Amino acid sequence: MVAIKQVSKSFGASRTEALQACTLDVPAHEILCVIGPSGCGKTTLLRIVDGLIRADRGQVFVNQTEVTAPRPDVAMVFQHFGLLPWKTVYDNVAYGLRVQGRADADLADAVSRYIDLIGLRGFEKNYPYQLSGGMQQRVGLARALAVNPEVLLMDEPFGSLDAQTRELMQEELLRVWRSQPKTMLFVTHSIDEAVILGDRVALMTRRPGRVKEILEVGIARPRDPETVRRSTRYLELREHIWHQLKVEVVGGNGQ
Ligand SMILES: Nc1ncnc2c1ncn2[C@@H]1O[C@H](COP(=O)(O)OP(=O)(O)OP(=O)(O)O)[C@@H](O)[C@H]1O
Ligand SMILES: [Mg+2]
Repeated sequence: MVAIKQVSKSFGASRTEALQACTLDVPAHEILCVIGPSGCGKTTLLRIVDGLIRADRGQVFVNQTEVTAPRPDVAMVFQHFGLLPWKTVYDNVAYGLRVQGRADADLADAVSRYIDLIGLRGFEKNYPYQLSGGMQQRVGLARALAVNPEVLLMDEPFGSLDAQTRELMQEELLRVWRSQPKTMLFVTHSIDEAVILGDRVALMTRRPGRVKEILEVGIARPRDPETVRRSTRYLELREHIWHQLKVEVVGGNGQ
């Protein structure tokens, strides 16, 4: 569903290299978690897949067509909510549909369905500043889901939430995914989150980012996070990913 082929990207006059020949494939309905050191180009990669910026070299295909601009079958949940502060919950969720030119009468059903799905019925007229961080993040998720994309790009969507809200959001996301299995590229800094959510986990090198290793999680769904955390496979993956990340962050062989 998503094919990232040899994508490279540099920024600024000094040509800071963010990504270097990054290649990744995500089959339909898969949740692929991406984990890597801060600044290794994860957000840049998602922005390229979303069509917000162009790669210097390489190509991205979604559903076999090349990405050259933002498109209706791809939606992104941003690292820092990305809500419009002057718009209500309702108008934030409706935003993507309005951009697509859908008339107000026509989008009301979809908006209300997604507001229900994320448990924010009754908060439609609230503004983002009147919501907790977890609620704002759920609005970001509803806005992305409302356009019914085939591909969801998630940029550390739960990174700023407290531990309990984060676990509840993970369960919520898995529940939504079971009823509407989207193809997902999910960036996270949490090894736990990557293993709990992912079908596979892609580890990135430090900047310039490349894919270093892809791991099959191999834990059956539906997953009960508490049971998963006690399994041998979970502990094995955790230790392996931790070691590989440490090598990238501190350099050398991590010993
Ligand atoms: N618009 C930009 N202009 C200049 N440099 C940029 C721009 N966007 C990203 N970069 C640089 O590209 C590199 C990768 O940034 P990016 O935001 O993709 O990293 P990241 O892996 O998402 O990091 P984090 O985990 O901290 O979110 C960094 O060195 C960053 O400074
Ligand atoms: Mg980022």
